[in-house]
Amino acid sequence: MGKSRLLSLLIYLLLKLISLPPLVVSISYCNGPCRTLNDCNGRLICINGKCNDDPYLGTHICQETTPSLPSSGCEPSGTLTCEGESYPTYECSPTVTSSTPAKLTNNNFSQGGDGGGPSECDGKYHSNENPIVALSTGWYNGGTRCNQMIRIRASNGQSVDAKVVDECDSRHGCDAEHAGQRPCENNIVDGSDAVWDALGLNKEEGVVDITWSMA
Ligand SMILES: *[C@@H]1O[C@H](CO)[C@@H](O)[C@H](O)[C@H]1NC(C)=O
Repeated sequence: MGKSRLLSLLIYLLLKLISLPPLVVSISYCNGPCRTLNDCNGRLICINGKCNDDPYLGTHICQETTPSLPSSGCEPSGTLTCEGESYPTYECSPTVTSSTPAKLTNNNFSQGGDGGGPSECDGKYHSNENPIVALSTGWYNGGTRCNQMIRIRASNGQSVDAKVVDECDSRHGCDAEHAGQRPCENNIVDGSDAVWDALGLNKEEGVVDITWSMA
């Protein structure tokens, strides 16, 4: 083999090597660059040039890299003081799911009852023989849940559907308008006697853990 042939062969091999794709394909993780699905690690997929969770698979591998609120997603907005005791106020409530944890309290929706004024939804008083509830401010959501039915489940297995008629005010309290009562917590389902009876619960308990969802 002549020197010139050897040289041209070497140049040919060198050019061939340069034109080849790199042998080691770099695998991208969350938010790493990608052009195709194969550029991304594991079950990640390529969205807009970045590796991310596959919404179809519903994975949450990349979620930690993007800041997100705690699952409750609701922090106090301020404090109010009733008779020397300080209470948080809330504009929001925990996220509503198919099984939303809440505290059931008892309310008297009749005129002159402990519920204060008439119900927020319709400006009327209601019979406590109907399964009706007031919801914390965030869940009341400016009245968008008025007249809708929610399903309340007790830990004893009993459940009842009740109508939303009122707000349990998480923003205000400690004043005459609220009969000196503290602001409502952000996770309250304030139910009529009928709700407590249907669930087989004793009102004397005052507060009972329940779960609820839209009915
Ligand atoms: C609700 O309040 C009204 C007015 O004070 C009272 O007559 C009624 O007995 C109360 N209902 C219950 C179940 O306590």
